[in-house]
Amino acid sequence: MNVTLSVTAGPHAGRAFVFDRHDTFLVGRSKDAHFQLSYDDPYFSRRHFLVEVNPPLVRVYDLNSRNGIAVNGEKVRTADLRNGDELKAGHTVFRVTVPPPDPDEWRTLDLPAAAPTPATTVSHGAAPLPETTVSHDGAPPVPGYVVERELGRGAMGVVYRASRESDGRALAVKLIKPAASVSRKDMDRFVRESAIMAKLDHPHVVRYFDSGLSAGALYLVMELVTGPDLAARVKRYGPMDVPGAVRMSIHMLDGLAHAHEKGFVHRDVKPSNLLLDGPKARRVVKVADFGLARAYNECQISGLTMQGEVGGTPAFMAPEQVTHYRAVKPPADQYAAAATLYYLLTGRYVMDFEPTLAAQMIQIATDERVPIRERRADVPKELAAVVHKALALEPGKRYADVTAFRNALRPFA
Ligand SMILES: Nc1ncnc2c1ncn2[C@@H]1O[C@H](COP(=O)(O)OP(=O)(O)OP(=O)(O)O)[C@@H](O)[C@H]1O
Ligand SMILES: [Mg+2]
Repeated sequence: MNVTLSVTAGPHAGRAFVFDRHDTFLVGRSKDAHFQLSYDDPYFSRRHFLVEVNPPLVRVYDLNSRNGIAVNGEKVRTADLRNGDELKAGHTVFRVTVPPPDPDEWRTLDLPAAAPTPATTVSHGAAPLPETTVSHDGAPPVPGYVVERELGRGAMGVVYRASRESDGRALAVKLIKPAASVSRKDMDRFVRESAIMAKLDHPHVVRYFDSGLSAGALYLVMELVTGPDLAARVKRYGPMDVPGAVRMSIHMLDGLAHAHEKGFVHRDVKPSNLLLDGPKARRVVKVADFGLARAYNECQISGLTMQGEVGGTPAFMAPEQVTHYRAVKPPADQYAAAATLYYLLTGRYVMDFEPTLAAQMIQIATDERVPIRERRADVPKELAAVVHKALALEPGKRYADVTAFRNALRPFA
């Protein structure tokens, strides 16, 4: 199911952009725009507007442009676009095409949400999933594991402590609740995408063991760590001392370097994905949820990033992750790691965010970061410079890689 943006008026009339999966599309005069209008249309701003697509959902955001955007003749800041809508900026008009769902491809399964549905309903002849059974505490059974108790929950799902039936080993199981009606194809894709995490093996990365589909829920089995995560730690005890925060960040960057060498981008580095492990004297940080954000966002399980339905936290998101969703590379993790260190040191985000998610995404793409020493005066000037270099808006202005960032942090540990 493709979404098409066709240019129907303006200097580039006749061009069309087709999206078959989750992506973002930046329009403006800047050279990193996907659709660039340099001299032809003087009404365009450098970064004029952004479209996020996750077929069949389409949403547009005006990036604080000088002359704004209009949908079907009405000026908007942000809007959900439907089939046939006309989006106008300057003299350029885009027509949105969203084809109706193909019944053969789009097999809808009504999955159990908070309240279990009595039976799985399947339309259009898809292979039915087994009937849903739900254990006493709401967790569906996971084959081969005994689910014991809840450890915590996030945007994507709930994490349980569990033991493996074959050898009794204690593990963590994450059960993911799909956002809405999800196709079997997408669920399978999620399982495939998450299974590539098995390739990561590093003391600062939470080990992945297994994933699958059970009773309409997605599950992911991983190493059990003692916890807590660093978001919980800062909430409880406040910002960390400088050497402590830097040491934890070095662990995180070592874990990220291992993954980057293997060609992985985490995409969701943030304090709650840094898990503490081990006894107090020998505490280490392990990076969790590697690539999960991608696996999740790839599928229709998620909806749109900017609707807040996904497991991505915009506060730590690199600007290019907003503007160039599919092209995200290791520098995005470096940015998020720096935003995480900033949080560990200050208990605050890199910007004072507006209340709505749509506004936050625009801020990330366009605004300056608040200098860390305005939040905490005793952060050494040299350390502040290192953090802000890794937080540069343009990926090319950051450190060459996470190891270079790590080495620059080293003197402050
Ligand atoms: N492998 C693990 N071992 C022990 N505890 C874990 C493990 N993985 C996650 N947790 C805990 O479970 C809780 C929920 O984690 P989860 O990843 O679902 O949410 P999150 O990272 O806070 O948010 P999001 O869903 O936005 O990524 C967290 O408090 C985390 O500390
Ligand atoms: Mg997490």
